[in-house]
Amino acid sequence: PETSLATELQSRMRDVPDFPRPGIVFKDITPVLADPVLFQRLIHAMAEPFREQRITKVIGVEARGFILGAPVALALNAGFVPARKPGKLPHRTVAERYSLEYGSDGLEMHHDAVLSGERAIIVDDVLATGGTAEATAKLLAQVGGELVGFSFLIALGFLDGVKRLGAQRVHSLITL
Ligand code: PRP
Repeated sequence: PETSLATELQSRMRDVPDFPRPGIVFKDITPVLADPVLFQRLIHAMAEPFREQRITKVIGVEARGFILGAPVALALNAGFVPARKPGKLPHRTVAERYSLEYGSDGLEMHHDAVLSGERAIIVDDVLATGGTAEATAKLLAQVGGELVGFSFLIALGFLDGVKRLGAQRVHSLITL
């Protein structure tokens, strides 16, 4: 039988201990991205739950959320919007600060990237504490966009990020 996508993805991701800091086990997804067939299956699966949801914007979170979010946007016939680390976007922005599994950071989005009432999803590679995703949701709320849901490759369930974001809106291909 065909190997399930989740099993295939898990076998092709690399665990890198103590990166970027001691005690963190980093999930390296670059082997998945480098495989054209697996990459395409991944993008299709991340877009699938939102196909009939009339999504007009996909927000991708720097940096790996850009790699996944842009093709998901194309798969949904939606536009792509980057949520970036502070100081990177050239035009007027909305901003949020948040705390991370390791450290604290901020995110910004162009104030006019999503219009009031537009239906949007947020895409990233990993959901851990949920701080990053929650901050991105707040950026969307600041400009009046409607958050339809989140699509992650990996949800680290033990960190309770899913609960923080509202479980029914969170889709992930792998829960660890
Ligand atoms: C990682 C990951 C998510 C975030 C998840 O990003 O890509 O964006 O952490 O963590 P959280 O749920 O606890 O907020 P990272 O900080 O490594 O940034 P990068 O993608 O720019 O390397």
